[in-house]
Amino acid sequence: MQTVSAAVASAITPPPLDLAVPFQRWLETPDFWYAGIPVIAVCQRKGGPGKTTLTRMLAEYLAIVLKLRVLLIDLDTQCGLSFLYLKMEMKDETGTIRPPVHPDYQAEGLRFSSADLWWTAAPVPYAATRLHGNFFIDILPGDKQLLQTAERRYREEQEREREKGGRGKNGLQVKIENRVLEFLTDCSDALKQRYDVVLMDTPAQESPITLSAWRAATHVLVPFVYEEQCVRGTRDMISRWTAENSMRPYERRLEILGIQPNLVKSRRKLHRLTYEKTVHRPGFQDHLSPIQIPDRGEFSERDTDDATPVSIFQLAPSNQARMIGEHFGAWVSRRLFNLPGKGLMLDIPEPSPLPKDVINPFLKPVRKRNNEKEDADDGADAEEVESTSVIKKAVARKRRVANAGA
Ligand SMILES: Nc1ncnc2c1ncn2[C@@H]1O[C@H](COP(=O)(O)OP(=O)(O)OP(=O)(O)O)[C@@H](O)[C@H]1O
Ligand SMILES: [Mg+2]
Repeated sequence: MQTVSAAVASAITPPPLDLAVPFQRWLETPDFWYAGIPVIAVCQRKGGPGKTTLTRMLAEYLAIVLKLRVLLIDLDTQCGLSFLYLKMEMKDETGTIRPPVHPDYQAEGLRFSSADLWWTAAPVPYAATRLHGNFFIDILPGDKQLLQTAERRYREEQEREREKGGRGKNGLQVKIENRVLEFLTDCSDALKQRYDVVLMDTPAQESPITLSAWRAATHVLVPFVYEEQCVRGTRDMISRWTAENSMRPYERRLEILGIQPNLVKSRRKLHRLTYEKTVHRPGFQDHLSPIQIPDRGEFSERDTDDATPVSIFQLAPSNQARMIGEHFGAWVSRRLFNLPGKGLMLDIPEPSPLPKDVINPFLKPVRKRNNEKEDADDGADAEEVESTSVIKKAVARKRRVANAGA
């Protein structure tokens, strides 16, 4: 497991907030921004569609399958992503969630978090310790209270502006929104030495912290569940994308990496109807991923402390959840890399072939079996089919052994 070198860490020290680089300087910088490193924000206004899960899945695909060096930035006050990779400290009585003391700064007792960006300190990423293996994932974890304080500061400024009769944003608000962008711009050379990709997990609700992720991102990935609230949330994401690009020069436009269906239950009427309504919908169809990630235990089981293996990409190559993850990772990576004149050129392995109706179970006509509920659960179905076939194989093996003995 890699540890963060103090030399690189000190190179990633951002300037104090008061010396923040103006947004204008970034707009005028002629070099390819962040020295060619893609910075992906995973955003969806609707809660629970799998932002954290897809951030993790993509990070592990990039790190394990493509062998890239990944930096995760957790901007969510709930710190879900940080809990996956680090032993976070949580105190129920005070509602505190904060990172552990950094292993390279034990003597000084220093902790670092993404919230440090707004508090002038130097955030130093952690090497993943909870879920780790032969792959390179570092994380700048969240800190609930500090992130909340940055948000509160922004809202206080907003209130002050309103009281003064101002309609726009004041200088401090703009600085808060530009902070992640400034940090990544300022340390882009150090970042380039240490990482190939940056992924940011964001909170569900609209917040200045989410805005700062939008401002800093080169790409946005939108997790999507086939339900009405999520359709509305995704429409909001598309409007925000248009608004963000209206502020940027063409060379630095924000790309939609994909609208990624997750928690798909193709036997559920609502999902099927919403799929049929959205698949050709203007705005959606250009970005909708063809891979339908089902609701399956293998994905959520990886969240537990004792999950073995740690990642879906370490399950058996024939495991369907792993194969689906590989198709998702390959689809995203083809939109991210190997573009003429831009960033990394990579050899993206062809994922093992899967039947068309596994990649897209909506292609399968729904046939009700005896005693089957109308809204049967795809994931459960798939798992049931797999476990039934495991049982059948075991019975067949026993019979063969018994026959051989007889
Ligand atoms: N494809 C999937 N199959 C099974 N479980 C899943 C899948 N995707 C996500 N989950 C589970 O659904 C729950 C919500 O997912 P997750 O935390 O990733 O959503 P989120 O968008 O980050 O939520 P929030 O808005 O609260 O940050 C988690 O328990 C996760 O393990
Ligand atoms: Mg989350």
